[in-house]
Amino acid sequence: MILKNRRIVLGVTGAISAYKALELTRLLVKEGAAVWPVMTKAAREFISPLSLSALACNEVYTELFELVGSSKIGHIELAQKSDLIIVAPATANIMAKAACGIADDLLSTVICAAKAPILLAPSMNAQMWANPVTKGNVEKLKKLGCLLAGPEKGDLACGYEGEGRLSEPIDILHAAQEALSKKDLKGEKVLVSAGPTREAIDPVRFVSNGSSGRMGYAIAQSAKKRGAEVVLVTGPSYLPQPRGITFVKVTTAEEMKDACVRYYPQSTIVIMAAAVSDYRPVKSSPTKMKKEATSLTVEMERTEDVLQYMGRKKKKGQFLVGFALETDHLVENARKKLIDKNLDLVIANTTGGLDSELNEVTILSPKTAVEKLPSLRKDEVADLILDRVVKGKG
Ligand code: CTP
Repeated sequence: MILKNRRIVLGVTGAISAYKALELTRLLVKEGAAVWPVMTKAAREFISPLSLSALACNEVYTELFELVGSSKIGHIELAQKSDLIIVAPATANIMAKAACGIADDLLSTVICAAKAPILLAPSMNAQMWANPVTKGNVEKLKKLGCLLAGPEKGDLACGYEGEGRLSEPIDILHAAQEALSKKDLKGEKVLVSAGPTREAIDPVRFVSNGSSGRMGYAIAQSAKKRGAEVVLVTGPSYLPQPRGITFVKVTTAEEMKDACVRYYPQSTIVIMAAAVSDYRPVKSSPTKMKKEATSLTVEMERTEDVLQYMGRKKKKGQFLVGFALETDHLVENARKKLIDKNLDLVIANTTGGLDSELNEVTILSPKTAVEKLPSLRKDEVADLILDRVVKGKG
């Protein structure tokens, strides 16, 4: 909950995508942030200040010159008491003003007087985004330390297709979290595995499990926010691809092993959150099997244990973290995995965390006492696991 109690100015400028600022506000408030919305005149043509105010549970600031009563915050206070300034959507116009230090309305004045980091989420027509003047302004703003979220490629409201689409609110939220995260994993190369694997019986049937991939994706995202270079090797999952991460899709346990082994030598931290199949059918039918017999036996063979394989090859001192999914004797079974697989940390959990937003984990290491955490959101669990990794690496 990096945004909890953080004061965030959310600048909204005049683009059709301004409606996405409403969802972004909701997400920021849900994370515990205090949102101070600032709208330009053009933004108010697209969405109502009332909607933004209701979602932010706060007054919307619009005017540069108005009497500031005791309950209101003046523009200098907005600029200097905030922890982060987000401009979403950010038009070519506001970026041009920010790049040149023009302060002719409330938002541009707040940007000009800001002490906090500034995160811009551009939104405009593809031609405007490609315009060399806009490009030059963006480069200048980046050099001055402004952060950027997007824009994305895709359908634009003006009817064109191209680069200029406002990033999704969830991606802007992640960028905001990244802007305020400690960078204690800078320089680390983190390999994370996630999701289930699938072992084919025939072209339409497979053996798998109920892992959603959420825990591994949350760890990958958190490591990225904390400054690491991240590779995420994932089995089939419906989760969206995280931004700024090397993303490797696999299906079978064998493909999972090949991908992990490929990235293992250059990794400094490895976290195997994937629910890898332990067995696969000995034979997979090339054609769809017909329901002829009254019963069916599928002969299975063991797959290789990817984590154990890597544990035996800790040549460059990689910090190795495994998960242990248990239905009984949680701590004893997890400790056995810690030793057998030569791990630095093992995260024990029960089936309650499968395909859930929450997880309740117990952390074991060779040196420290067993630590039981309460049931938490998976992104919170991910952060706590990474705290233990940083501590464990020393
Ligand atoms: N794992 C792996 N390769 C496998 C099986 C598991 O790398 N073929 C990893 C998982 O990603 C996890 C850890 O090993 O980090 C423990 O997985 P888990 O399913 O809890 O246990 P298993 O080792 O498979 O043992 P068992 O199923 O007997 O409990």
